[in-house]
Amino acid sequence: MLKAICSRKELSDSSYYSCVSDIITDSRLDPLKDITHHICTTRFQHCVNVSYYSYLVCRKLKLDSRGAARAGLLHDLFYYDRKEYNSSRIKGQPKHSAMHAGLALRNAGEVTELSSRERDMIEKHMWPVTRPLPKYRETVVITVIDKYCAVLELCVPKVTGAASAVGGMVRSMKR
Ligand SMILES: [Fe+2]
Ligand SMILES: [Fe+2]
Repeated sequence: MLKAICSRKELSDSSYYSCVSDIITDSRLDPLKDITHHICTTRFQHCVNVSYYSYLVCRKLKLDSRGAARAGLLHDLFYYDRKEYNSSRIKGQPKHSAMHAGLALRNAGEVTELSSRERDMIEKHMWPVTRPLPKYRETVVITVIDKYCAVLELCVPKVTGAASAVGGMVRSMKR
């Protein structure tokens, strides 16, 4: 089962999936399934979330939705632990925000051939935290969706957890 956060749609038999089917099963993405990301999810699930919602928005705007799906899936393709990196970072070493996008771009280029648009989306997905301006509208979309998904990932488990806790209390009060 492959789903994006806040969506009931099974993605593995969707038009979205056909855009990423050759890379989503690549073994180089497997380690991301074991790395915690944004406290409540995995880096793999975060990449699926960004990929799927960037695809939907770009398709709606008649932009390069296939490229957005592919770049979204690969935009955080790095393997180090963010907290460990930041705590052991020495003076002069780039910050995580600048470091990981470049690393993801390099790793993504080993998984598949990237168009210049896809390269821009991965390399600049941290904008405006990182300085270089997005060159394509798809890159602007992915920067917004990345942040939107981060907020959802941080908030939704708490919201649904609280909702089920309240539901449990109500049910026990009815007994
Ligand atoms: Fe990132
Ligand atoms: Fe991200």
